[in-house]
Amino acid sequence: MSTAKTRLVILISGTGSNMEALIQAASSGAVSGEIVAVFSNRPDARGLDTARAAGIATEVVNHRDFADRESFDAELAARINSYAPDLVILAGFMRILTTAFVRQFHGRLMNIHPSLLPKYPGLHTHQRALEAGDCEAGATVHFVTEELDGGPAIVQAPVAVREGDTEQTLAERVLVLEHQIYPYAVELFCQGRLVINTQGVLLDDQLLPPGGISYPLQKPVRSEQ
Ligand code: GAR
Repeated sequence: MSTAKTRLVILISGTGSNMEALIQAASSGAVSGEIVAVFSNRPDARGLDTARAAGIATEVVNHRDFADRESFDAELAARINSYAPDLVILAGFMRILTTAFVRQFHGRLMNIHPSLLPKYPGLHTHQRALEAGDCEAGATVHFVTEELDGGPAIVQAPVAVREGDTEQTLAERVLVLEHQIYPYAVELFCQGRLVINTQGVLLDDQLLPPGGISYPLQKPVRSEQ
């Protein structure tokens, strides 16, 4: 039996609060994997300082240094692969990735998106939920496929919209839950319990429903019994 820790690489573009939640979870043991590197496409991403302060290797691959998406993604993939990751985690990484990149990491590339997918892929999710008069917003952790924000869901957390909510107040409440569901989903992967196939995501060999696991959990999801 191998005792090697699952190797995690995180990609960010900005604040990195989801990355920070993962760093804390890895340090408390709530996530059993090891964060071996944090990448940013922006040299000024605040999250880089947080990662460095936690003693994690950081790398910048600046998209502005590349002529096109293909060459940027090729360099990014090569540098990521030098860390031999088991899972690549997009945590507020605000670049659209090419098909070649996504295929290369198929089944080991996760994203968090601030909406209840399939609602509101893309940007300005909270504003769009408010404009539509939705009574709930939320966040989704999903495996990444070639379709933008279209890969199968692993966990989804709904958040009630309150009267008087603005894009910012809603985003703040959703972010609190993002910081819970991302470590949760990553740990399921680290335990070897998540697999993607052509039908969707399997947890412990059972196909998850289209929205994934609903969070907060109704009952503990355990591998034993
Ligand atoms: C998070 O809300 C994340 O869901 C969102 O960006 C924010 C990053 O915050 N991601 C996307 O919109 C991806 N399409 P963070 O840098 O503090 O983790």
